[in-house]
Amino acid sequence: MTSIQEQVFGAAYESASRYVDILATRGIEWGLIGPREGDRLWERHVLNSVAPAELLPPGATVADVGSGAGLPGIPLALLRPDLQVDLVEPLLRRATFLTQAAEELGLDDRVTVVRSRAEDHDRHYDVVVSRALAPLPRLIAWCDPLRQPSGQILALKGQSATDELAGAGRDLSRRGLVGEVLTVRAHPSVESTSVVRLRAR
Ligand SMILES: C[S@@+](CC[C@H](N)C(=O)[O-])C[C@H]1O[C@@H](n2cnc3c(N)ncnc32)[C@H](O)[C@@H]1O
Repeated sequence: MTSIQEQVFGAAYESASRYVDILATRGIEWGLIGPREGDRLWERHVLNSVAPAELLPPGATVADVGSGAGLPGIPLALLRPDLQVDLVEPLLRRATFLTQAAEELGLDDRVTVVRSRAEDHDRHYDVVVSRALAPLPRLIAWCDPLRQPSGQILALKGQSATDELAGAGRDLSRRGLVGEVLTVRAHPSVESTSVVRLRAR
């Protein structure tokens, strides 16, 4: 029987497995992934990262802000060969990890590592994604300037999504944004998660 991860990733399953191996070895050795995360990389990190994949329009340009070890940008790029993904990450060790991982996974034609803080980067994207980046007001200040006028911000937030969105009313109205919380999952058999989606009013 095919595993959930094979069902989700299909033709990209081998590359996704290779990425999980990279996280479990170099990711832990370099301190990007906690030592106790080794056994739950698939469900907690990789499948969680692709939960919002259906919200990204075909052929979208995507910035993953604060990519860390490549989450969610690398799993999204593996699952969706139509996407162009920039991984925005200021820390040298993390940016080096990302560059090596993108090369080893054969993603370097579609995935670019941008070693920068979000607020010092000046491109515009169809979708600005982030996971575990910052509280919503700071996240909005960093991510909204990178959004095309017609684009969207997708913040993987999990349980805090509804409360964070309710508390960010002033930040949204100041920037002319509307927000909603969407429940998404990579596969019917895995836990769902909550994403805050922000778009122009
Ligand atoms: C908690 S980690 C999350 C990493 C990854 N997204 C994940 O889900 O595992 C937050 C990341 O945001 C990066 N970061 C912090 N401030 C940033 C900024 N101003 N612009 C872009 N990235 C930033 C950090 O270097 C770190 O890699």
